[in-house]
Amino acid sequence: MKPAMSAAWNALAHAAETSHGVHLRDMFTADGQRFAKLSVTWNGWLLDYSKQRVNAEAMGLLHGLWQTADVPGWIARMRAGEAINHSEGRAALHIALRHPAGKGPILYAGHDVMPAVHGELEKMQRFAAQIHGRHWRGATGEPISDIVNIGIGGSDLGPRMATQALAAFHHPELKVHYVANLDGADLATVLAGLQPRTTLFIIASKTFTTQETMQNAASARRWLVQALGEAAVARHFVAVSTNLAEVARFGIDPDNAFAFWDWVGGRYSLWSAIGLPLVLAVGFDNFRQLLAGAHAMDEHFFSAPPAENLPGLLALLEIWNTNFLGAENRALLPYSQSLGLLPRYLQQLEMESNGKQVDRQGLPLDCATAPILWGEPGTNGQHAFYQLIHQGGRRVPCEFIVCKQADFALPGHHEKLLANCFAQSEALMRGRTLGETTAELAASGMAAGQVALLAPYRSFPGNQPSTTLLLPRLDPFNLGALLALYEHKVFVQSVIWDINPFDQWGVEYGKQLASRLLPVIVGTSSGAGLDSSTAGLVAACRDN
Ligand code: F6P
Repeated sequence: MKPAMSAAWNALAHAAETSHGVHLRDMFTADGQRFAKLSVTWNGWLLDYSKQRVNAEAMGLLHGLWQTADVPGWIARMRAGEAINHSEGRAALHIALRHPAGKGPILYAGHDVMPAVHGELEKMQRFAAQIHGRHWRGATGEPISDIVNIGIGGSDLGPRMATQALAAFHHPELKVHYVANLDGADLATVLAGLQPRTTLFIIASKTFTTQETMQNAASARRWLVQALGEAAVARHFVAVSTNLAEVARFGIDPDNAFAFWDWVGGRYSLWSAIGLPLVLAVGFDNFRQLLAGAHAMDEHFFSAPPAENLPGLLALLEIWNTNFLGAENRALLPYSQSLGLLPRYLQQLEMESNGKQVDRQGLPLDCATAPILWGEPGTNGQHAFYQLIHQGGRRVPCEFIVCKQADFALPGHHEKLLANCFAQSEALMRGRTLGETTAELAASGMAAGQVALLAPYRSFPGNQPSTTLLLPRLDPFNLGALLALYEHKVFVQSVIWDINPFDQWGVEYGKQLASRLLPVIVGTSSGAGLDSSTAGLVAACRDN
């Protein structure tokens, strides 16, 4: 049944209507136990959702959605390796990539995938030991000092974000760079600071056909060959892909190719050999910790009831905000410079997964799906866009992420960071009434006329919903758990919205059109039949 036609959906719509005029600050005044009731802990984490605009009735109904949509059944299907990515006929078994050895098989098409998963991890470990131990030498006999990962989307965002997130754990001598954009400025600026003799490229592409990656790989190869000759390629290029035949065609030694499998979606692939640049950046033991954290979150997700299930709660709260309170976006606000790329990573995970409008039966959906995700780390964002969240009149559900301990403990910084984070969620919740502002300005000694003039500008509506996730510290284990949390959150939402979160046909269409336009731009095709705007843009470039 379509989500919006279910009785549970109607009951939620009714609950949203009846709670419409109730302000968050009144909810806190009415119930001194609100935080205790609407917060959960797990493994040293605290998820505080008491500043969301929910009451006990709404939460009860949202928990009910978990059962009516059969989330437990879908979890079982995912774990059993069923082709839940039905439009591509594939399983989605990223959980196998962090499943510990000796904990039993995970089956795909009747075969246990775990030996292959652990075999590849061991190969990554051996490779990292060679690079870190300076045993792997470039063509001139020098050790490698710089790694350049060339990939895009899921073959870039995960390792890039995690490399930044784990800056406190970096290998002291090896620098890891990332190149994604087709715009030559990306590769050119990275290469400008490097020496071919000491640079190793990782070409990361699930398909090994992605235009951006193949172009950057070809240009990087040319840069290397010009300096060191064709024979140097084997010592300076390795690949990560599911398409080992194409890797060999590119000229990369199969021994230096790391495999993964079609049951790993690009945006769920950090845990596979796509994590190789991260392994080189932080060491294999830290990568293992990342996998352990993700696995711990998997276990929690599989077993906790919806009222205590962290991914489940985040999913249900966003469904409440999106489908019942009309929010069209969510601001992700990590109070952590190291998590600065998390919003970008989650944009792919959430919007590429759940930005859909056709259900699992191929019929148009009757409800909104993934909201627009955006964000920046605090406190920087406070000095940029927070003004709109406070006084711009739009509903912007906010998600704060902050750690109790600093990853870079400079005296005097972290306490202020925490104070700012909590102050923002407090201000968004409470707001400041005209009366309060007037009293405060008057108490400061301001003249009455001036108070009356300024008070409206300095009052805030509040009632802006937010969640705060407080982690003990940003380390590989907690980062792994955090990313798995969002993967499962996306999955729960997809089940409730009845969509396939593992395909991305919209993206594929853009790629198809770009391939059709390229011959027109280079002048080998006329472009007949193009719309006048596209034809006009192409013509303007060809004049150049
Ligand atoms: O952006 C679309 C997409 O297909 C992503 O899902 C994927 O992560 C990315 O392109 C890169 O693909 P590949 O790893 O095959 O180069």
